[in-house]
Amino acid sequence: MDFGCGTGRLTTKFAALCRRIVAVDRSKRSLEVLKERSSGTGTSNIDMILADLTEPLPVRLAATKAFSVQLLQHVPSSEGRRRVMGRVLAALAPGGAAVFLDEVHALSRRLRSKPREVAGKDTLYFHPFTPKEIRKELRSVGFGSVRLVGCGVLYWSRYCILPQALTHLDVMLSSLPGMVWISKFVAATGTKSPKEDARPNTRTAAGG
Ligand SMILES: C[S@@+](CC[C@H](N)C(=O)[O-])C[C@H]1O[C@@H](n2cnc3c(N)ncnc32)[C@H](O)[C@@H]1O
Repeated sequence: MDFGCGTGRLTTKFAALCRRIVAVDRSKRSLEVLKERSSGTGTSNIDMILADLTEPLPVRLAATKAFSVQLLQHVPSSEGRRRVMGRVLAALAPGGAAVFLDEVHALSRRLRSKPREVAGKDTLYFHPFTPKEIRKELRSVGFGSVRLVGCGVLYWSRYCILPQALTHLDVMLSSLPGMVWISKFVAATGTKSPKEDARPNTRTAAGG
């Protein structure tokens, strides 16, 4: 599953690796672009759902894997973000795993005194996570085995010189401990309990 798929920048790439992929977004226009994009490449294993992920999904799903790239950081309020996390957990099959990739409020942002949150009438809401916060929130909705990896340590370079070598080096750096404090993004993985009757903490997951 691809939660907050947008126009399918990543959905179409992952579709090539999956038997079936379900892409969810609340933007009708984005899903239309994804539809055009997938028919242009002859991809036929993408199902799309138009839904606001802070609300219960209109269908029951049992995905083995889910990802969500730069979605949570645009959901206003920690309650809303926990609801989205709860939807992702609810859509996983027992033993399934999810990865959330979002911007991190790391050292570079703090040193440059970048604001913790950006919100305005004409600006897209933006909330970079602290590593501690995303770990705590994922656990609070019922995700287990939460693991954080810092990605995009060299992102500031925009990979403008020797892009292949820099990207390669960046992937290597991501595997080192502590990178999440200096990277641009955090990739947070969590799993759903393999026991069918395991329930997320619905008090904080707000249903789902
Ligand atoms: C920055 S885009 C990322 C798109 C895609 N994941 C990518 O990496 O290319 C964020 C997407 O999240 C979607 N989104 C934001 N809040 C949402 C919500 N509450 N429910 C469903 N989709 C949402 C937006 O419509 C947008 O397409």
